[in-house]
Formats: sequence, structure tokens, C-alpha cells
Amino acid sequence: MNSAVRRAAQILRAGGLVGFPTETVYGLGADAASEPAVARLYAAKGRPADHPVIIHFASAELAFAWAREIPHGARELGHRFWPGPLTLILKRSALAKDFVTGGQDTVGLRVPSHPVAQELLKAFSGAIAAPSANRFGRVSPTTAAHVREDLGNDVELVLEGGPSDVGIESTIVDLSGGTAVLLRPGAISRQQIEEFVVVTDEKSSVRHSGGLERHYAPRTPARLVPTHALDREIAALKDRVAVLAFSRPDERVDFWLRMPREPHAFAQKLYAALRELDTAACEQILVEAPPDTAEWAAVRDRLKRACS
Ligand code: TXA
Ligand code: MG
Repeated sequence: MNSAVRRAAQILRAGGLVGFPTETVYGLGADAASEPAVARLYAAKGRPADHPVIIHFASAELAFAWAREIPHGARELGHRFWPGPLTLILKRSALAKDFVTGGQDTVGLRVPSHPVAQELLKAFSGAIAAPSANRFGRVSPTTAAHVREDLGNDVELVLEGGPSDVGIESTIVDLSGGTAVLLRPGAISRQQIEEFVVVTDEKSSVRHSGGLERHYAPRTPARLVPTHALDREIAALKDRVAVLAFSRPDERVDFWLRMPREPHAFAQKLYAALRELDTAACEQILVEAPPDTAEWAAVRDRLKRACS
């Protein structure tokens, strides 16, 4: 085993914080069974104490031990999509204490597939509480360098794992209330989930920071613009502006990033792109809206929040 991973596991055991790669985004990890470790995690993130955090495991079997009721649909989803970019919300068992659930009776469980995350979970041989490794409300990190930029000295070690493959956070399905509710769209689509459970649109009452209106946001004010209005908006500009679009750069614009027309490739690049647009020191960011179709749902969700 990689010596950095071994050191990271030691840090976790000692109650410290570790940045680590997952296939979705980088996580900021702490021992999920240690109250002081989780308190440090919340402090470093600047996250309110009543917001729950996702717990990561090496296998579905280990994950389900933290739930006291496992509906058939949850087992099927875990079997099909774990390890992978899916988080299940279930009724918690006695292992999930108030300090990781934000005092709620449910717990968020995930089995990541990234090989470094898997190695770390096995070396630590416990559960790792990990939100995305950014400060509260900001754009999630998809490289180890992003984590260092955001958290600096608040994290003892950041494991290197290359750019995250998926690029946006896991799909979250809440199965704690008898029905399945999609709390956060992600790379695993609603249609894929619906092959196993009936998904309702009922608004879940749980606190969920990804559900806040403004989240995943760059510092520069950003606006979503429909394709047909992009040219008109650009023509009317007075400010220095940065644009994220599908088409070729327009010479009237100071900073232009071109994005792929395929949703998974777009998601993979999205957060690095938002960070880059932020560094362009423009007064405004204009984002060309992707098509309003099911395959773009997760990307549209993140863009809507980044631009609200
Ligand atoms: O892809 C991901 O899920 C990444 C990587 C690191 O695994 N993690 C992540 O964590 O996005 P975080 O904390 O940034 O977002 C977790 C979301 C939050 O909106 C939180 O409120 C929600 O999951 N969540 C966690 N436990 C929950 C629970 N018991 N009930 C409802 N929502 C929950
Ligand atoms: Mg987050």
C-alpha cells in the first residue's frame, strides 16, 4: 500500500482531517465515529452543525450496518451502483450519532469507487465522514490542488488521485420515508434509479445543504443565459465579462471557456471551469444554459445554484 495512504489512515485515527479523491469530487474526511474529529471537520468547512454529512464505507455491507431499516429497494440500488456515485439516506442505526446526522434520525451512506478512496477506507478500516472538501457554499474541488487552495492549513494531508472522473457530487436518494425521493441529481440518473424504485417528487423535509438555493457558487456573480439570447447579451455588455459556452469564443468577450456538448464530459469539467472563470477577475460570468432535457438534469441543477 501507498505510504501516503497509510499516513492518511493514521491521521484519521488520531482525530485529524484528510483530503482525499473520490470519483465525484474530493472529500474532506474525518473519523465518523469520533465526535471531536467531526467537530473539527465542521469547523474547517464552516458548515452549520445541524447539517448532516455523508459517511463513506469500503463496502455495502459495512455501509448498511449504519442503517436500522434497509428497504429492499435500497439493497438493490446498493448492489447495482456501489461502489459508485450514489448516496442513500436511510434510518440510522445506533452507530450513526447525532454529531454526524445533524441530530436527524437518518444517515447518508456512500461507497465510493475511486481506488485511492477504497485504499484509504480499507487502511483506516472504519467509516469516514466526508463532505466535499471546499468551504461551505463554494464550488466543490475536483483536484488535490483545489482542496489545498480552499482549505490550506486546515487539512493535514491531501491525497493525490488525479482529476475526479464524474466531476459533480453523488446522486442522493432518500429512502427513509417509505418512498424514494431524489434529493440531489447526479451522474446516476433518475431513470437509472427508477429501474429499481418508484421515485416521488414529494419535497423531503430533511435539511440538505446541496438543496440551498445558492450553493456551488463562484465568487463572481454568474447568470444563466439561453442560447438564443447569448449574442444579444454579449452585444449589450459594458462590464468585463467571462463566458462559459458551447460555441467558439467571441472576440468581444474578455475571457471565454468552451464546454463539451455531452453532459458527462461537461460535468467533469464544470467545477474547474467555474474556478477558472473566477480567476479571470471579471465583473460578471455568463453561462450558456444547456438543453432542458433529462440527460442534462444534474448539470442544470448545479448551474442553476451557481447562478442564483
Ligand atoms: O459526491 C459526494 O457525495 C461528495 C463526496 C465527497 O462523497 N460528498 C458531498 O458531501 O457532496 P456534501 O456534504 O458536500 O453534501 C452532502 C449532502 C448535503 O447536502 C447533506 O445535507 C446531504 O448530503 N445529506 C447528508 N446526510 C443526509 C441526511 N441524513 N439526510 C439528508 N441529507 C443528507
Ligand atoms: Mg458540498
